[in-house]
Amino acid sequence: MTAKIPAIIDCDPGHDDVMGILLGARTMDLKGITTVFGNASLPKTTKNARYAVEVAGLEHIPIAAGYDRPLLREDESADDGAGAHGKTGLDGPVIHEPTVPILEEHAVDFIYRTAKETENLHLIPVGPMTNIGAAIRRYPDIVDHITEISLMGGSTTMGNATAVAEFNIWADAEAAHIIFTSGIPIKMVGLNVTRQVNATPAYRKQIRDMGSRTAVAVADMLDFYSERLKILYGLPGGSMHDPLAVAALIDPNILTFESMHVAIELAGTNTYGMTVCDYRGRRTDTGEPRGEKPNAEVAVAVDADRFWKLFLDILQTYP
Ligand code: BDR
Ligand code: CA
Repeated sequence: MTAKIPAIIDCDPGHDDVMGILLGARTMDLKGITTVFGNASLPKTTKNARYAVEVAGLEHIPIAAGYDRPLLREDESADDGAGAHGKTGLDGPVIHEPTVPILEEHAVDFIYRTAKETENLHLIPVGPMTNIGAAIRRYPDIVDHITEISLMGGSTTMGNATAVAEFNIWADAEAAHIIFTSGIPIKMVGLNVTRQVNATPAYRKQIRDMGSRTAVAVADMLDFYSERLKILYGLPGGSMHDPLAVAALIDPNILTFESMHVAIELAGTNTYGMTVCDYRGRRTDTGEPRGEKPNAEVAVAVDADRFWKLFLDILQTYP
């Protein structure tokens, strides 16, 4: 058996963030969960992370709270319940007051320390990119201690926060820019693929029928989230954005990637936060790549059935 990949999930739970945690905790050597503002305020996303580990019996995984706002700009992510995740950031299940403590260490320090202590560490940011961007700025040598970043964010096509910008990048585009210019190998799992993997009523029924405490909580989450995404975007179920960034590291056959250069738009009048993906595949007359060197592996296709098989199998293992 090959060793599990060591990783930290940096998240803003968030319904699909919880799905990412559940998938990652069983399939990876999860060193920690770090939280950031995003789908709701930082106190709420941190509470939701604590709730999620308690429901699933994962209290051994350390949790560290990070940034409550973007690095440079005002926080424009709404904490008003109008988005996909409701007022609490995790509407749907009855959320008890969690008792599992969080670390006293800030997420940025936790990420750096863990990177230095861990061979082959992978980072999986699935919320606004603030914590990881700050870690790279504050501790520049961290780039030598991270094997790869698999992030949920961006898109080769449409956006969701704006017409062209995906939420996790748009919510702190300057931090995303730091990541994409850091030289750390990147897998970008964006909306163009994640919107194709949705928790349809049939999948939600299958999950509820599992009957375990965790599965019922997940079904409650997915019912709320799916209803919201149907209203907001006309989708047939809640998109499994965040667990796909985890899946990208554990099964190479779920997503198909292409190397390309990705620039983060920081100045556009209508395009702030867009991931400008250069997939022209331009070549010189002699076959050399032309234009900026690829800085990311960008997901361009997804096998949704294969993802669901993995996810449902893993969910069966929870109490
Ligand atoms: C991303 O934004 C959040 O709503 C989800 O948790 C996901 O990380 C999708 O754009
Ligand atoms: Ca998220």
